[in-house]
Amino acid sequence: MRRKPFIAFVLATSLIVGLPAAYAQEATAPSAQTQQAFDNKIIKRINVDNIYNDIGHLSSEPRIAGTQAEWVAVQYIEAKYASFGYDTEIQPFTIESYEAPTVSVTVAGDLLKSDSFTYTPNGEVTGEVVDVGLGTEADLAGVDLTGKIALVRRGDISFADKVLNAAKAGASAVIIYNNTSGSLNGTLGATNDAFVPTVSLSQDDGDRIALALANGQAISATVKVAGGGVLQKTSHNVVAVKEPSNKKKATDQIIVVGAHHDSVAGSPGANDDASGVATSIELARVMANMPTDTEIRFVSFGAEELGLLGSYAYVETLSQDERDRIVGMFQLDMVGSRDAGDLVMFTVDGEKNVVTDLAAAAGVRTGTTLTYGQEGRSDHVPFYYAGIPAALFIHSPTEPWYHSPEDSLDKISKAKLQETAEIVGAAVYQVARPDTPALERAKVAPKPVDYEKEIGGLQ
Ligand code: BES
Ligand code: ZN
Repeated sequence: MRRKPFIAFVLATSLIVGLPAAYAQEATAPSAQTQQAFDNKIIKRINVDNIYNDIGHLSSEPRIAGTQAEWVAVQYIEAKYASFGYDTEIQPFTIESYEAPTVSVTVAGDLLKSDSFTYTPNGEVTGEVVDVGLGTEADLAGVDLTGKIALVRRGDISFADKVLNAAKAGASAVIIYNNTSGSLNGTLGATNDAFVPTVSLSQDDGDRIALALANGQAISATVKVAGGGVLQKTSHNVVAVKEPSNKKKATDQIIVVGAHHDSVAGSPGANDDASGVATSIELARVMANMPTDTEIRFVSFGAEELGLLGSYAYVETLSQDERDRIVGMFQLDMVGSRDAGDLVMFTVDGEKNVVTDLAAAAGVRTGTTLTYGQEGRSDHVPFYYAGIPAALFIHSPTEPWYHSPEDSLDKISKAKLQETAEIVGAAVYQVARPDTPALERAKVAPKPVDYEKEIGGLQ
């Protein structure tokens, strides 16, 4: 009975100030004014022009993973961190990237406009075209396609399953046509020896062939896929470490601030994610000479756009001891768009954690109400699966320029950058500065997930 009022008080305190319970329980928890004084040490030092200029440098060209342009960005980022006095490491890892083939489809002598599917095998096939509907198992039950070309409509099941079903029925090639206007550029998700050459056609061309077949016309086609294949390349992470400034008073805890430097083909990736990298760099500059008792790691990941490959590679290198010592991971991805919504925090399981608590509290102190929700899709994911509390900081809803050639510097808002840098900087410094006690490391329950299946499931 006696303990009850005390517990109720602790809970109420932690709710009001929005701090992790570990802080609320401290008799010496700093007052709101003291907290703000510490925040201001960071905030007054942030120079948003540095962030903006770094985005300008990084977004002069697309930075596709494994290319020279990504490597140039890696060197730029490493040099910045080194210039602030950080210990830096460039961490290489191997990636497999698919080189798109050239394709052609000739039907009854006409060359039609066609595209390839990522991970289609190469090959040249001439044969009779057979309409197999959506290419489901039911569509193909009892159908013998030996030596033939399957004509399949997009929809209902994944591209990969359509190809596997047709190949199982004996098809030598597959044509998948669109179920909406425009061209169809899909992926089969991963390489698979059971695939046969697969190409796409527009809805109009597909409908026309299907109609002719329905009218009893025999149609022969030639499908050519050449020059495609998986190449091994190297991508890199950049890791910059700020050791605790006073070794004697140091905790053994680690905070990770992450972002990704690669972009998709054709996009300068100013917001996705030069914005996150440049904000991390500025926070590193600001923190460089601040007294801290917690190790801070700034990590810029490569090959995020190919499936979070850099962050998976990085987490793989962490010992169990290091994983246990990382109290939180802040992922900054798309944090500067003029045309996106408000700053939101996303966790993989949709639950709040120590990272969202710290940032929400920093938001209260700096005048921003932060909400949180559930989303993967960035480098916080591998940390979560390693049992580390992590959150993605992003503006939501997303700007229309996402993954397009228009994701350029002119769409970047200094106000958005400033707000993100202040909140994340204040949250990180609250843990890292010597005056606060070590955080209680919250447990995160990882759930297994099959990424290959998720990506392969594209329809
Ligand atoms: N920055 C995006 C993630 C994102 C975009 C999250 C919009 C929430 C809203 C990231 O770079 C990205 O594009 N990720 C991939 C997933 C990844 C596993 C290849 C994506 O979302 O397609
Ligand atoms: Zn991104």
